[in-house]
This record gives sequence, structure tokens and C-alpha cells, in this order.
Amino acid sequence: MVASSTTGLLLGFFVIFGLVNVGVVVGEDPYRFFDWNVTYGDIYPLGVKQQGILINGQFPGPEIYSVTNDNLIINVHNSLPEPFLISWNGVQQRRNSYQDGVYGTTCPIPPGKNFTYTLQVKDQIGSFFYFPSLAFHKAAGGFGGIKILSRPRIPVPFPDPADDYTLLIGDWYTANHTKLKAILDHGHRLPLPDAILINGRGPNATTFTVEQGKTNRLRISNVGLQHTLNFRIQGHLMKLVEVEGTHTVQTTYESIDVHVGQSYSVLVTADQAPQDYYIAVSTRFTDRVLTNTAILHYSNSQRSVSGPIPGGPTIEIDWSVKQARSIRTNLTASGPRPNPQGSYHYGLVNISRTIQLESSAAQVDRKQRYAVNSVSFIPTDTPLKLADYFKIGGVFKVGSIADSPPHKNMYLDTSVLGADFRAFVEIVFQNRENIVQSWHIDGYAFWVVGMDGGVWTPASRDQYNLRDAISRSTTQVYPKSWTAIYVALDNVGMWNIRSEFWARQYLGQQFYLRVYSPVGSIRDEYPIPKNALLCGRAAGRPARPQ
Ligand SMILES: *[C@@H]1O[C@H](CO)[C@@H](O)[C@H](O)[C@H]1NC(C)=O
Ligand SMILES: *[C@@H]1O[C@H](CO)[C@@H](O)[C@H](O)[C@H]1NC(C)=O
Ligand SMILES: *[C@@H]1O[C@H](CO)[C@@H](O)[C@H](O)[C@H]1NC(C)=O
Ligand SMILES: *[C@@H]1O[C@H](CO)[C@@H](O)[C@H](O)[C@H]1NC(C)=O
Ligand SMILES: *[C@@H]1O[C@H](CO)[C@@H](O)[C@H](O)[C@H]1NC(C)=O
Ligand SMILES: *[C@@H]1O[C@H](CO)[C@@H](O)[C@H](O)[C@H]1NC(C)=O
Repeated sequence: MVASSTTGLLLGFFVIFGLVNVGVVVGEDPYRFFDWNVTYGDIYPLGVKQQGILINGQFPGPEIYSVTNDNLIINVHNSLPEPFLISWNGVQQRRNSYQDGVYGTTCPIPPGKNFTYTLQVKDQIGSFFYFPSLAFHKAAGGFGGIKILSRPRIPVPFPDPADDYTLLIGDWYTANHTKLKAILDHGHRLPLPDAILINGRGPNATTFTVEQGKTNRLRISNVGLQHTLNFRIQGHLMKLVEVEGTHTVQTTYESIDVHVGQSYSVLVTADQAPQDYYIAVSTRFTDRVLTNTAILHYSNSQRSVSGPIPGGPTIEIDWSVKQARSIRTNLTASGPRPNPQGSYHYGLVNISRTIQLESSAAQVDRKQRYAVNSVSFIPTDTPLKLADYFKIGGVFKVGSIADSPPHKNMYLDTSVLGADFRAFVEIVFQNRENIVQSWHIDGYAFWVVGMDGGVWTPASRDQYNLRDAISRSTTQVYPKSWTAIYVALDNVGMWNIRSEFWARQYLGQQFYLRVYSPVGSIRDEYPIPKNALLCGRAAGRPARPQ
């Protein structure tokens, strides 16, 4: 989709081979170094002691601040007594799925060991987050925000905000992750969460200070396990400006639904009387509504927060669908490059393949499992990407999940869907269940061309938005509805497609998309990193055969 110059490719080459050892190369994209120590530690998000996963002693973890094309060198020391990995939600890692930090791409970091991720935030801007991908660690912390700012000379379609705040919101349990995992391992469902956290804290414990008359940017990510959350600010409107790396048509909302795994940037102007206001976050589509609040504090505030906490929608689906359809790409604004976001006319490209994915829930061997197209994913001992690289047979089979729902009984397999590099694919997520789903694709952003109630048919294409659909990496699918996306498969690698509903992901509702180029050129995919950890049937192999 994006043509790189030869220089760009050579620099990319240095980035991977040079790592920390190569000196400064003139014109090379900047490096940012991070040294992270992952430990267990006491946290008190709701006033009672819990064991959280901390990064450098922090919960949530430190924020990653970066600029388009920066190289991020992140050395993660695992001081937990169990294997650990971090993954980067929405960061595309072009040609470099080894760095994705999910089970299928990267060996777990053993206890007491470290692994240095080498990511480049190539051709990206926007708001994302990282999270721990193994076991049920995500329920204990280890997550944090990622900001990718535009390069200095690339126009941003709004004035520089006075401040730029990250808000990580999510549902939360007082039970620890080992307990929650045990509930799932025994084949049971999780109870309702105990609370919602805002930046790891409970009611009124987080304050965002603003100056009267100034406009601030808030980057809101739902880092929780399952629930859609509605976000709003007492007495203030929010102007949506960015969604997962795309500058949006700037629309003003009173409140915004943030589905699990999604990220939104809004501008908020402190244009009210000088006092404190509630920031409210509450669960959507639940019988019992959980709410948490933070404080928007005017620096010249004369009154502490007061009045009723602003209410939001609760079970209304139509409200959410209407809002989803109003979120569109600003075609004339720049993204990561100077050219406008609308210069790539996705609506004019011919579809080379249609893939229909249908979720299901069932019992297998009397235990609760979840599936996509009847296959419930099970890991093997060797990351799929390494098995592919070392040509180790018997780990997975390409084509072990069908292009459309076979409507068979659910079964377990290590499901991998094969696809050709540069194919332009239509994916339809069909939801016949009664819950709101959220789907994520690693390594890519995709256009959300349509969503509607009922069952998708080819005639549903008549209502697609082929002009200014939003491009993002996580999309919701409403109950008994479908969502259709277009994706240009321009990133070779092994990429996780998963439900962001974490218990479902853990119990099999995920698979891998193997985007393959027969050429085997480093123009298309970087070789395995020199520091790659090797495990399972890849253990002991020479990482870089000379
Ligand atoms: C990580 O933190 C733990 C606990 O403070 C400490 O014992 C350990 O030495 C640290 N490891 C690194 C690599 O900094
Ligand atoms: C989780 O809680 C249980 C008790 O419910 C405790 O035995 C276990 O050590 C805890 N594990 C972690 C990782 O905090
Ligand atoms: C572990 O950290 C050391 C520096 O503390 C670094 O030299 C080494 O490359 C790291 N190991 C991996 C596998 O990244
Ligand atoms: C879209 O972006 C352009 C270019 O930056 C800007 O002038 C315009 O106001 C934006 N339009 C909307 C509706 O957001
Ligand atoms: C703090 O937050 C809770 C709910 O989030 C609310 O009920 C309470 O009244 C708040 N206000 C103050 C001033 O503490
Ligand atoms: C798409 O397919 C149509 C019909 O097969 C063909 O006429 C057209 O040139 C194709 N467009 C592109 C952009 O490849």
C-alpha cells in the first residue's frame, strides 16, 4: 500500500541488524531505549491490597512516548516467577511479526530472563496501548499507553493541545489473575467484575488539571477484559479527533462508547465555570451498571466536584450503532505522511477474497470453550512464527480454519489461515450471539466498511461506506449483527486475529493469519532477530544460520 524508497529499506535493514551494536547511521530514524523490570507488587486500586503486575514499580506501566518512525528498543526483564510476554495493541511492526509478543510469534520470556523488543513505529501516528499477552496476566496490570506523535513538519488537523493525557479505563476484579485463570481452566464463566478502574485507580482518585480556556487532548483506551465502557465529562463536550491512528472527521459528542481493546482521542476545552467536574466511566450492556469517576480540575477552580454524576446510555444498542457509523476518516487531513489520508482509495480496489468469521460458544469435553468458524484455538509448544522460519513440521497446518463457517461441532486445533501478500481481503464478522463482541487484528489497520443487524449477505455490500470509513485495528460487532472490514494484506508475517473479550480469547476465540510471500526477501519480511528466544521444537537451533 505504501511504497518505500530504497533508502528506507536500507535503513530498515540497519534497524534490525544494527540493533544496539551499530553506531549512528546518518539519516537513520531516531532510537528510544527503555529498560523495564516486570515484578509483582502490592497495589490498592480499590483500597484493599492486591498483587499487581508492575513495570519499574508502576501500575499502570510507564507510558511510551514516540514520534512516527522512531525505533523503540524495549528490554523487558521478567522478574515474575512465571513466563511473561508483552504485546503492542495497534502497533503494526511492519515486516516484523517476531516482535509481536503473542504466543504464536515470540517465545515467552522465562522467569529471571529478559528479551529486548525492537519495534519501529513505521508510518504510524495515534493512540495505542501495550498489555501482557500470556495466561490471564492482563487482569493484573502490566499495561500502559503508547503515544505516537506526528513528525514536526507533518500537519496535524487541530492546534497543539495544552496537555495530552492518557486515560486507561477497564473493568477490574479483586480476585487475582491466577484465581480468574483457574475459574476458566475449570470450565466455568467469570462473574461480573467488581469495579471499573481509571488509570489503575478507583473513585475520584485521579485528577486531570486543566487551565481555563485551554484545550486538552485525552487519549482513552479500554484496557479491560470484557466490558464496553461509556466515557463522558460533566458539563463538557468532546471533539473526536483520532481513532487508533486515523484522524477522524471532527464530530462533537456528549459521551463515547469505548469497546474493549479500542482507543480514542478527544479534545476537551475548559470552557465552563472554574470548578471541578466529574469524568465518568460506566459499563454498557450490563444489568448492573458499574461506574467510576475521576476529576477534571480547573487550575483556578473555586469549587470541588459536586452535583450528580453525569448519566450515560446503559443498554441501548441503537445509540451505539449510530455513533459507530458517525465515526469516519477525515480524507483531507494528513496521517503519518504529508499526503492526505484519502489518497488511498480503498473503495476502488477489487476484493480478492471474502472471509466470513463466525463466533461460537460451546462445551468441549464438558468445559466452556469459544471458537471462530468452529475451531477453538489451542497453543502448541513452539511459536508458529518460529516453526515457519525453521520449517519445523507438525506444529500447525495452513488452512486449519475455513474461510466461512462450516457449522460443524466445535473442535480444538492450532488454527492458521493462509493468505497471499498483497491480497485485498473483505472480512465479515458475523455475530449470532446476544453479546457485543470486539475483534482485533495484529499487524494491520483495516477499514470498517459496514455494520448492521441480521445476517450478512452479498447484498449487504450495497450499504458499505466505500468513501470515508474509519481505518483502525479493533472493531465491535453488535449482538445478532455483522461488521464488514476491508484489509490490504501488505504486511508479511504471522498475525493474531482475536476476540478482545479476554476470557474468550484465552479459551480459544482467536487464530493466526499467515500472510505469505514466496519471494522470501527482506524487502517483505525481516529475518529472525539475533536475540530471538528459542523454545519448544525451535530450542537450540542457530537463530541465524551463517
Ligand atoms: C527487578 O526488581 C526486583 C525487585 O525490586 C529486583 O530484585 C531485581 O534485581 C530487578 N531486576 C532488574 C533487572 O533490574
Ligand atoms: C492469588 O490469590 C491466591 C489466594 O486466593 C493466592 O494463593 C495466590 O498466591 C495469589 N497469586 C498471585 C499471583 O497473586
Ligand atoms: C538482556 O539484557 C542485556 C542487558 O541487560 C542485553 O545485553 C541482552 O541482549 C538482553 N537479552 C535479550 C535476549 O534481549
Ligand atoms: C479535516 O482536516 C482538514 C485538514 O487538516 C481540516 O481543515 C478540516 O477542518 C477537517 N474537517 C473535519 C470535518 O474534521
Ligand atoms: C466520588 O465518587 C463516587 C462514585 O464514583 C461518588 O459517589 C462520590 O460522591 C464522589 N464524590 C466525592 C466528592 O468524593
Ligand atoms: C476491478 O475488476 C474489474 C472487473 O473485473 C476491472 O474492470 C477493473 O479494472 C478492476 N479494477 C482494478 C483497480 O483493478
